[in-house]
Amino acid sequence: MMTDQAQALRQLVAQNQQVTQPASQQQPVAAKRQRHARIVAVTSGKGGVGKSNVSVNLAIQLTQAGRRVALLDADLGTANADVLCNVPVGSTLAQVVNGQYTLKEVMVKTPGGFYLVPGASGLANIADMSADARKRLVDQIYELEAMVDVIIIDTGAGVSSNVLGFALSADQILVVTTPEPTAMTDAYAVIKSLVSERQDLDVRLLVNMASDVTEGREIYHRLNAVCRQFLSINILYAGHVIFDPAVRKAVRAQEPFLLASPKSQATQCIRSLATRVDRLAQIPSGPGLMGRMTQWFKRK
Ligand SMILES: Nc1ncnc2c1ncn2[C@@H]1O[C@H](COP(=O)(O)OP(=O)(O)OP(=O)(O)O)[C@@H](O)[C@H]1O
Ligand SMILES: [Mg+2]
Repeated sequence: MMTDQAQALRQLVAQNQQVTQPASQQQPVAAKRQRHARIVAVTSGKGGVGKSNVSVNLAIQLTQAGRRVALLDADLGTANADVLCNVPVGSTLAQVVNGQYTLKEVMVKTPGGFYLVPGASGLANIADMSADARKRLVDQIYELEAMVDVIIIDTGAGVSSNVLGFALSADQILVVTTPEPTAMTDAYAVIKSLVSERQDLDVRLLVNMASDVTEGREIYHRLNAVCRQFLSINILYAGHVIFDPAVRKAVRAQEPFLLASPKSQATQCIRSLATRVDRLAQIPSGPGLMGRMTQWFKRK
């Protein structure tokens, strides 16, 4: 077991890895009951790889494409999507959990047109919440599912129960990595934890800060080769977002790069990503976040 792990990690960081076949682009299809929102979780192993920037800008692009979008800042450690969008935040998920406000009341409309549910830094581990608090959270998210077309969840980094719980609740999981070996090995650890819970997940790798299209594909092929060999699963490729100084500049100005630099290369990458993610919106979906979250946290 440990040897496998070590070997997997070595293979992951090895240069000149043989390129394997691209993963099938097929979606897992299932006849399931109809509900409104499709849920996309944006997660990562390592922090600082660009989850929040991807989440916010993807939310804006999907809004511009005509979808009603909510972004749930579920990074309970360092929630900061509100800072990226420069929106004032009064109440957060914390007040929803303690029953003071509804999700609708804490939600703020951002200049990008999507609704942000501000996260609560330092909010207790969901698994440790009282049954009442957890039920309130899940019930509120259930209502949100009826109000919008797409819910994007910025989960925070790592393999904590909160992160996995939110990710496993989604219809699609975007695992963000950068070309750095440490980000890749941590991404592998997250994928491994996810698939050890459920094999039928729609996991897609997004390579952020890639120097070009080729590097993005190469990183994907390397990681997928390891997933195939050691986990017997194929992950899909969500594409890349190029390393672009426009991103950092926009972060400093507290304006999402899609709005601040609509012609930038990073913006073009998010547009392609959004087209792919949006296909999900046409697929009938499963039991919804409420059902799956309840199942997950009950076991913890
Ligand atoms: N494509 C990119 N090109 C250049 N810089 C980028 C790119 N994406 C992200 N960055 C830089 O990386 C920083 C971290 O990004 P971001 O906050 O989105 O990461 P995160 O994964 O949400 O971090 P955390 O784990 O702390 O929540 C940004 O402030 C920005 O400066
Ligand atoms: Mg973040």
